[in-house]
This record gives sequence, structure tokens and C-alpha cells, in this order.
Amino acid sequence: KLLTVSLLGVAIAAGTAQARDYDHVRFGVDVPYEPMEYRTPEGELTGFDIELGNAMCEEIGVTCEWIEQEWDGIIPGLLSRKYDAIMSSMTINDERRETVLFSDAYITPPSAWFAPAELDLEEPTPEALDGMTIGVQRGTLQDNYVTDLYGDVAEISRYSTADDMVLDMEAQRLDIVFLDFPVGKSTLLDSEEREYKVVGETITEPKEYFGDGFGIAFRPRDEALAERFNEALATLKEDGTYDEIYQRYFED
Ligand code: ARG
Repeated sequence: KLLTVSLLGVAIAAGTAQARDYDHVRFGVDVPYEPMEYRTPEGELTGFDIELGNAMCEEIGVTCEWIEQEWDGIIPGLLSRKYDAIMSSMTINDERRETVLFSDAYITPPSAWFAPAELDLEEPTPEALDGMTIGVQRGTLQDNYVTDLYGDVAEISRYSTADDMVLDMEAQRLDIVFLDFPVGKSTLLDSEEREYKVVGETITEPKEYFGDGFGIAFRPRDEALAERFNEALATLKEDGTYDEIYQRYFED
């Protein structure tokens, strides 16, 4: 009986210790990914993810910190404790669910094909893209999709940052790129360098590739922390904070 009581004591102490671990939360983020996470000309880190993440931290009563990490190593960085969570426009999907724990989705944007306005193309089918050079960010779901469906017919250029990809598009080294819609809109459609367009429809299916919206990723044992963020998200949606941040970045 004594043993049970003391084991229980250890379990409770361990539980409390874990909760106390997180009066400070470090987020891993891959920058730039405008308008989700980027730096202003003054060097200040901002974007929809950053502002929403900061608002959630405030709601929960933790301080938070943003740690920059290249996309390609972003899950390993979480698992090796370089930071405690990933808030970086990461799409929730089954493959990632095997290694990380996701919060509820906080936004659900589609993917889209973006090309220079003069490209003569109606539907971005594999036949139509035969021989073209497609740009994607390495390790994204867009990379997986394009590799599987277009890998045999097109040449695929993979970039470690979305920014490098946009630069190559501006330099006319790519025919077309495939990426999260808000990012293509903000970096290409709103570009002053050249005129761009969306080719075909925006894409959300099949789910195996396009998943279930963007979520915050945690280490699997941090269920309590994920739950606190889910509650904070629900509160910010109810009290109007979420809409206010949303409008700042997505309604022009
Ligand atoms: N949503 C895509 C994915 O989860 C791409 C996200 C890339 N994020 C970033 N901050 N670069 O695969």
C-alpha cells in the first residue's frame, strides 16, 4: 500500500513538473514564408502564424520565443528539443502524425499553381507540364505531390526556402511553381517585378497529400500543452482576436 501511495506521489510530481516546464514555449519556424512568417524591412519577425502564436501564448499565460529553422529539418529539431513546438504553416497529415502531435487546425488554405501571366496553359495536368521545370520547397507536401504525379514528365527544382524559389521564378529559371496559396499570392501575384497568375483551380484533394489544414506540432508526450493551445485557439476565435489577425493578413 505504501508503495502505491509513493508511486502515485511520483506520478503527480512528474505531472506537475512537466506543466511547469512550459511557462516558456519555444517555437520552431521556417522564415520567410510570407504572409505566414517573415521579417519586415526593419527586421521584425511578423506574419499570421507569428501573431496568432503570440496571441495564444498570451492567452495561456506563457512567454514564447521563435527559433528559426530550415523546413527540411524542422521535425527533427522538435524531436531533439531544439524547440518545443512548430508553428510554421505545417499541414496536418497522416505521415507527420506518426511522429508529432498536432493541435487543432488553425487555418485551412489550399495549394495552387502559379506561373507568369504569359504562360499559355489552361489545366496543369502532367501532359500539359511535360518538359517544364516546376519549383517546390523541399520536404513540403507540395514536393511530395509534384514528385509523385509529375516526376516522370517534368523537371523538378527543389528549394530549401520558398524565397529562393521565388527568386528563381523572378529570374525566369522556372516555368511554374506549386505552393500554399497564400504564399504564392503574397510573393508572386502581388509582385511588382512581373505579372503572375494562378493556373487551374486551387487544390485541396486528395487528403493523403493535402491533409487537414495547418496545425501546431508538438512532441507526442506533450498532450497537456497541445490541449492548452487548443483551448486558447477556441477562445481567440470566440473573442474576435483571431478574426482581427486574419483580416490583417488575408483581407485586402
Ligand atoms: N504547408 C506545407 C507543408 O506543410 C508547406 C509549409 C512550409 N512552411 C514554411 N514555413 N516554409 O508541407
